Amino acid sequence: MKIQRSVALVTGSNRGLEKAIVSALLEAGAAKVYAAARDPGSVVCKDPRVVPLALDTRRPEQIAAAAIAAADITLLVNNAGVASSAGILTTSQSALENDFRTNVYGTLAVVKGFLPVLERARGGAAVVNVLSLTSLGSFPALGGYSASKAAAYSITQSLRAELKAKRIEVIAALPGPIDTDMVKDLPMPKTSPADVAKALLAGVERGEEEIFPDPVAVQMGALWNTSPKEYERAFASF
Ligand SMILES: NC(=O)c1ccc[n+]([C@@H]2O[C@H](COP(=O)([O-])OP(=O)(O)OC[C@H]3O[C@@H](n4cnc5c(N)ncnc54)[C@H](OP(=O)(O)O)[C@@H]3O)[C@@H](O)[C@H]2O)c1
Repeated sequence: MKIQRSVALVTGSNRGLEKAIVSALLEAGAAKVYAAARDPGSVVCKDPRVVPLALDTRRPEQIAAAAIAAADITLLVNNAGVASSAGILTTSQSALENDFRTNVYGTLAVVKGFLPVLERARGGAAVVNVLSLTSLGSFPALGGYSASKAAAYSITQSLRAELKAKRIEVIAALPGPIDTDMVKDLPMPKTSPADVAKALLAGVERGEEEIFPDPVAVQMGALWNTSPKEYERAFASF
């Protein structure tokens, strides 16, 4: 799908990767970007094409209102995410549930809420779910988060099959570590949000179903393609 002249909505647009995706969309010529955030007042971009929108992806009434307010979108970018849980044996049930509520159920609820809008889009539409390399193999230090991102990947595959006939592309973005608040305490090389955002949109334009938008992701994606078992072992050894 072409970004030029598209109308996009990005969830969680106030900071981190989402903020960079909004900027990259504007640079690539999007006609309008709904910058959705729990606190729309925290969206700082002043470009006239940006429309701040209140959207907590865990609140059904806000999803319904957003689907009315942003009834012209052709591209939905599901970015809002949390990493509350850690190791699968030590993490609390509430932290695990928190990750699933946002990363899995919230993402699915937003897609379902916007389906009538996306179905109406002339010329087709696209959904990008921002997942993680941990969708494809568990990173045990973040085992709970990995489980939620794996579930979100499975949902992405189901949606892709179900929405194909409606000309809605469903894309999985699978980044490695990005330099945002989410992993600020993890000592590892990270890619800048701006670079990830640009690579992500380039993958959307190329029509890729799985986008590996940074150098670590490209390397790990190649390993996953050749040997999912080696991929699992590589993550387990971190
Ligand atoms: N950082 C990484 O290394 C990395 C790697 C792979 C994938 N990812 C994925 O990339 C996405 C963006 O993460 P990030 O690194 O930018 O994290 P971040 O800096 O922690 O930002 C998370 C964003 O999600 C929003 N959010 C959380 N829960 C929400 C909800 N219920 N409704 C609406 N917005 C909500 C936050 O809004 P508030 O400001 O209101 O909290 C914030 O804007 C996530 O899906 C994450 O899993 C990140």
